[in-house]
Amino acid sequence: MTFCFAQAQQTAPAVTAQPAAHPAASLINGYQPVWWKEAVVYQIYPRSFQDSNGDGIGDLNGITQHLDYLQKLGVNVIWLSPHYDSPNADNGYDIRDYRKVMSEFGTMADFDRMLAAIKTRHMRLIVDLVVNHSSDEHHWFAESRSSKENPYRDYYFWRDGRPNPADPAHPLPPNNYPSYFSGSAWQYDATTQQFYLHLFAAKQPDLNWDNAKVREDVYSLMRFWLDKGVDGFRMDVIPLISKQPGLPDLTAEQMKDPSRIWANGPHRDEYLQQMNREVLSKYDAMTVGEALGITLPEQTQIVNSERHELNMIFNFDAVRLNRGANYSARPWNLPELKAIYDSHARVLGKADWDTVFLSNHDNSRLVSNWGDDSTPEFRTRSAKLLETMLLTLRGTPFLYQGDELGMTNYPFTRFDQFDDIEVKNLYKATVLTGQMPEAQFVAETQRFGRDNARTPMQWSGAPNAGFAPAAAKPWLAVNPNYTAINAAAELADPESIYHYTQRAIALHHAHLAFVYGGYQDLDPTHLQVYAYTRTLTEPGKPDQRFLVVLNYGQKPVEYTLPAGIKAGKLLLANIPGTTEAGATLHLTAWEARVYSY
Ligand code: GLC
Ligand code: CA
Repeated sequence: MTFCFAQAQQTAPAVTAQPAAHPAASLINGYQPVWWKEAVVYQIYPRSFQDSNGDGIGDLNGITQHLDYLQKLGVNVIWLSPHYDSPNADNGYDIRDYRKVMSEFGTMADFDRMLAAIKTRHMRLIVDLVVNHSSDEHHWFAESRSSKENPYRDYYFWRDGRPNPADPAHPLPPNNYPSYFSGSAWQYDATTQQFYLHLFAAKQPDLNWDNAKVREDVYSLMRFWLDKGVDGFRMDVIPLISKQPGLPDLTAEQMKDPSRIWANGPHRDEYLQQMNREVLSKYDAMTVGEALGITLPEQTQIVNSERHELNMIFNFDAVRLNRGANYSARPWNLPELKAIYDSHARVLGKADWDTVFLSNHDNSRLVSNWGDDSTPEFRTRSAKLLETMLLTLRGTPFLYQGDELGMTNYPFTRFDQFDDIEVKNLYKATVLTGQMPEAQFVAETQRFGRDNARTPMQWSGAPNAGFAPAAAKPWLAVNPNYTAINAAAELADPESIYHYTQRAIALHHAHLAFVYGGYQDLDPTHLQVYAYTRTLTEPGKPDQRFLVVLNYGQKPVEYTLPAGIKAGKLLLANIPGTTEAGATLHLTAWEARVYSY
């Protein structure tokens, strides 16, 4: 098992939009306007962004150094992956102290300086909230494991093992739950001779949210960061917080996609509503939940504003369209991708909000995964096409560091080049048990492994790509293509992916149609062209009508727009010099255009 269990695509039933509870005058196209709907978010994986002190590990002062770069790009919210004290079993997603900065990343004073510098630039910061589990080195867990009577015992899930007739000295795990990171989700602990639950690594024990004290402690640490001035949270695997009562075995059917069961525990909404009431409602905060296991129809239960839970979630339908089980590929086609965005537009109502993203620190690189990195020209064009798409589709766009440069997957050729615990555990479970040849494992992991997104930012053509001083050894190897693909080169080139992304972000910010406007797919079944409109009619203002046309592939295509639609003024194009307008368009490989019409 890995973080990516096989996932069936859901066909979404039509749902009628919720009636608006707000005075109609303040609404835009039925939506309540709010800053996080209008934001463009940029994710920073701090370990890989910029090393300021030569230890080979990115840090907070490194981020502060590059805030002008981000401000110029035009993003206005930064999501910072975990910056807390951690033994780094899973690069900070295993937190030892929620109120302390990871010493490798700097100090609280560095954090405060970074936050102030972000605010000075009129940007906002959201931080990662990782509270489905803690580190096993958190003091709660140290107490919890020390004895069955300890007051913290019930902060985690402890159970007796099941009898093991074949080997009575070694009991079997309490149930059949698999871990996302391979093997059983239960770890035996000799001190009290019981097992504890960990849906991720053994060093990430799951917190027991059914214990009111756990919830209070979480709310309190949330207030700590909000009181410092952070603007909200990205919530790690948040739907998993409510466990199934009694923790029964998964059936064979449920075992095909355990997330579905784990994400839909009986108290999920109750706990999120309590969190909202006690904490979030008191701040002008933005929340985005990572929601594996949540189908589109279920999504509104969490994001509908009448329910007072979260603002939005990351739904995995699009980002995992091309994945089978573990790191295997799933053949896909463009109509399937369009159908996902179309179903989101149909199912989510005016009281819901959506995200749009195709990359993050858990997925391979945007251009390698969804575009075409086979030649420099196709890489540049397809990266621009993808940024065009992300910045003109419905929902708040989330961009991942380096994608604005068209950074690519790393040419991994050997298992020992990987750092990720998910990869290491999967290797043990598949290659070392003889279930998969090593060469196949390395090839699949090169394609889909998480380390692809985690190689250091490529700032320049200097040694270590300017990520770290020349004498340092970066914690993960720099992609050898940094001499050609780096920020310094792109900043010097007006036609670079960076500058194109900057223009696409500016376009997004300039027109509320890209935020609140209607969405219409003009040709859902076309295998190569993705053409859609974003339109907004506001009383007393001229209509905003935008047309996005993407040639998703290498093959040039002549494309005639549906009757009544003619491309008008060209606002953004990834091939310099293009001027074509009208009803029939001639698109070359990976060509992307945005028009008014
Ligand atoms: C989330 C994070 C991922 C992490 C896992 C466990 O999916 O994005 O990086 O490994 O949760 O915290
Ligand atoms: Ca450092």
